[in-house]
Amino acid sequence: MTSTAPVYDPRTPGFVADPYPHYAQLRAENPVHRTRFGFVLLTRHSDLRAAYDSPTLSRNTRLWDGFSGWRRGSEDGPLERMMQSWLVMIDPPRHTPLRAIHEAAFSRDRIAAMQADVEKIVGDLLDDATAAGGMDAVADFADRIPVYVINHMLGIPRQDWDRFVGWSRAIAQTSEAFLTRAVLAEGKQALQAMHDYFQPLVQDRRRYPGQDVLTALATEESDGVRLTEDLLLDSLIFLYQAGHPTGGQLLALALHSLLRHPDQLQLLRADRSLLPGAVEELQRFDGPVQMNDRVAVTDQEFAGLELRAGELVRLCIAAANRDPQRYPDPDTLDLGRDADGQLGYGRGLHYCIGEQLGRLQTRVAIDALLERAPGLRLADGEEVTFLPSVSNRGLARMAVRF
Ligand code: HEM
Repeated sequence: MTSTAPVYDPRTPGFVADPYPHYAQLRAENPVHRTRFGFVLLTRHSDLRAAYDSPTLSRNTRLWDGFSGWRRGSEDGPLERMMQSWLVMIDPPRHTPLRAIHEAAFSRDRIAAMQADVEKIVGDLLDDATAAGGMDAVADFADRIPVYVINHMLGIPRQDWDRFVGWSRAIAQTSEAFLTRAVLAEGKQALQAMHDYFQPLVQDRRRYPGQDVLTALATEESDGVRLTEDLLLDSLIFLYQAGHPTGGQLLALALHSLLRHPDQLQLLRADRSLLPGAVEELQRFDGPVQMNDRVAVTDQEFAGLELRAGELVRLCIAAANRDPQRYPDPDTLDLGRDADGQLGYGRGLHYCIGEQLGRLQTRVAIDALLERAPGLRLADGEEVTFLPSVSNRGLARMAVRF
């Protein structure tokens, strides 16, 4: 590439509200490059697929040679210790039995059987919003549903659900690259609170097994491996980190896309059978997980670039999902399109355990909203605001009227 080729820069004006033109330019003119931040960025769908499938690119970002300089000041942060036991950070062979235990706990049958429960959770939230004639679609709706659903699956009493929304949010905030002391302190407190909440519950379920996912995680065995108490506690907390910001913002962004494309919203209202495919297309078009990280474990050639062991490679899902080589006319939201192969849940070894749940709750929530809010629209004068994060995309708020 010549020195005039564009390079990744999230400080490009307008990037946070709409990063897609920047990604399109990179994908077309400099699809694989070493950025000024030190990592290698991949933007093409075919390169991401190869990276997800590569045994020499690890998901364990602690192997990255820049890891200790990242998140300065957070060395004793809530996430640092736990990262060692989170499924998504573990390589085979240790990953294999732990993954099998999680797959058994989140079995397809168990998730399929959740439909009525998810409908009830969504319906209850909409009762309040309908009475008020509208809501903040982020704080009052999208941000709560994934936490309530996980709580329900783990068998947590209803009166405690809202505490989990706050705890989970506080911990998630500590995953940003730039941290303040206040955010870190709040995250640590939340982590301790969640830990203290789960500890007696875990002991109880081991003694008196129930039908819930907590019992399954506590009692499932694979290859003679069972989750130890520490691992189980860390795994439970990880479920919120894996499923809350992602699931909440998947729904929030989907609603935002629909409201910005009234013709597509109308199409969906007229034909609800489009809904399952629409949920895929909405995630392809604008999803919450914009990047996944991998680390080269050996010196190697990848997509025409020489990688050295310990180098960080960022897989730009948002760019790949709009690759014209994979999806014709990719910047058009087309709810009738086949968005198969969209990479919003990753791929390969670490493919999302919660994908079926994510699809279910998003579908149920949109369906219920179409039913209960015939005049769904942005509130007058509403300026939708985006979160400042670049690798996890999301809305700070979005007031809607029914
Ligand atoms: C609904 C929106 C969701 C999105 C967009 C999403 C996205 C992702 C992505 C992209 C990965 C792969 C990470 C990588 O390869 O680097 C992943 C992994 C994972 N997700 Fe999700 N996720 C969602 C919901 C959930 C839910 C609801 C749960 C569980 C309650 C969950 C649990 C997991 C777990 C355990 C992993 C790690 C799997 C492994 O390492 O083997 N996710 N998710």
